[in-house]
Amino acid sequence: MQTTQKPGCGRGCACVGNEDKQDTQQVAKAAEEHKPRIHHDVRAKVEYQNWFYTDIVKKHFFHPKNLLLSKKNAKEWTADGIGMVGSPTCGDAMKVWIRVIQEEDKITDMKWQTFGCASAIASTSMLSVMITENGGMKIEDALKIRPQDINKRLGGLPQRKFHCSVLGDKALREAINDYFKKSGQNDRVIVEGAEVIDSTLKVTDKDIEEAVLEGAHTFEEVQKKTKVGIHDKECIPKVEELIRFYKGKYFG
Ligand code: FES
Repeated sequence: MQTTQKPGCGRGCACVGNEDKQDTQQVAKAAEEHKPRIHHDVRAKVEYQNWFYTDIVKKHFFHPKNLLLSKKNAKEWTADGIGMVGSPTCGDAMKVWIRVIQEEDKITDMKWQTFGCASAIASTSMLSVMITENGGMKIEDALKIRPQDINKRLGGLPQRKFHCSVLGDKALREAINDYFKKSGQNDRVIVEGAEVIDSTLKVTDKDIEEAVLEGAHTFEEVQKKTKVGIHDKECIPKVEELIRFYKGKYFG
């Protein structure tokens, strides 16, 4: 009578012999070692979904609000203030147009265009909604909006994408400054200048701000990105103070 050979030691039983056991363990170990490592920041929040962006981010990315689609649209849209910024680290640009009712000191409309990524598109779309919902926003309130507020309304962005939400925020501030200048309110212009921190390598506070926004939260991490303090050791306490300040400002 023919018997069915079972897996195992070859003696017809169901055991896993020692050699087979070792092979199995080695295969499992090799598989574990070669398993693609997914950075926690880009892993889907819900494991069975492929997306690591929230539904709100996706909604604003695929259907952005208040976007000026063409150059023609941008040219025809009359604005009271225009602001443009570019990120020195990723080469992205953001342009914002605003309309203001001077008597009420209120922004009633905001449009934008960007060369940035999905996170920049979703963040600026959300920012434009925040500014224009409920009939507009007082300038003093618009100036208080922080990237964290946009991030919150989006349900969160991956940390390494957080700096993208700063682009729209900065461009809006530039547009407000432009409006102040055009309407003769020069005393209200807010100047954010760059201060040289490392006198040898000419690293500024803005470079440190960018590094923190990109996820460098310790002196060593900031130094790796900017080379600050490698030659000019005296600036290190100031750099550490700035890291604490920007961490509190953006992530506190
Ligand atoms: S805008 Fe530069 S990576 Fe998002």
